[in-house]
Amino acid sequence: MSTREIIIDTDPGQDDAVAILLALASPDEIDVLGITAVAGNVPLALTARNARIVCELAGRPDIAVHAGCDRPLGRPLVTAEHVHGETGLNGPVLPDPVMPLQEEHGVDFIIRTLRAQESGTVTLCPLGPLTNIAMALVKAPDIAERIAEIVLMGGAYFEVGNITPTAEFNIYVDPQAADIVFKSGVPITVMPLDVTHKALVTRPRNDAFRALGTRVGTAVAEMTDFFERFDKEKYGSQGAPLHDPCVIAYLIRPDLFMGRHVNVEIETNSELTLGMTVADWWGVTDRAPNAMFMGDIDSDGFFALLTERLARL
Ligand code: RIB
Ligand code: CA
Repeated sequence: MSTREIIIDTDPGQDDAVAILLALASPDEIDVLGITAVAGNVPLALTARNARIVCELAGRPDIAVHAGCDRPLGRPLVTAEHVHGETGLNGPVLPDPVMPLQEEHGVDFIIRTLRAQESGTVTLCPLGPLTNIAMALVKAPDIAERIAEIVLMGGAYFEVGNITPTAEFNIYVDPQAADIVFKSGVPITVMPLDVTHKALVTRPRNDAFRALGTRVGTAVAEMTDFFERFDKEKYGSQGAPLHDPCVIAYLIRPDLFMGRHVNVEIETNSELTLGMTVADWWGVTDRAPNAMFMGDIDSDGFFALLTERLARL
């Protein structure tokens, strides 16, 4: 398997943190060209801080971390401290970052990198609201044809919403940005709640993280101990859903996931269903398919991969 060059766009968030760790633990498959922070789970200053904390936890202070947009394209920012805690990375006690935040805006980094790298070789991996990705596409339309693929965590169909009855958080925070991305013509693979709610950190799985006996394993277990309470209380689930690591695991082991290439459109007008990903799963419209929408995951295979890779850090 050749190494895949990626940019991770993220709003850490404990699950974003695990996704970043998985990517940095997999250098044979993934080359992280840089990380761009976006406002989402917590405000931008914190997501840009948390991204650097995670890079240093992985022993990678060399990674270029850029701050991107601090608010959605056309709405006030909605955050999720009720899920992720005040810092966005509640759970473990981790040192303040020492590595610098890059001067260049995250959107400009995405544009410059896509123009500099060979066309069709860079994959964008958005793990939060799609504001940075949409801004890059609007500011530099020429990059669309240069993007190999966008593999994102967001949306929901059979699982319905987690922030409203119909919308998943990442899409809900910036529906206009999501609409731009899903209409961009770029090949898109979607990891919706339909999949991520099956990637639950049950007690035995979290015990396996802790049993690694490493700083990373312990930190991930402590992040999960904090992060799981929201979903356990709301859904009665068996553990925290590891949403964002599904994106990275797909790059390494696409065979762990099953889905369909369907049309997905974003509700951007109705206050009742704002941010809903309307996936034509049953092909009842003549709208052209524009996304590989995942519906299932081999959860045991996913956690075996994740645990083995985290052990490397
Ligand atoms: O709805 C789950 C998504 O919202 C995840 O990416 C989580 O980190 C939050 O950003
Ligand atoms: Ca996220």
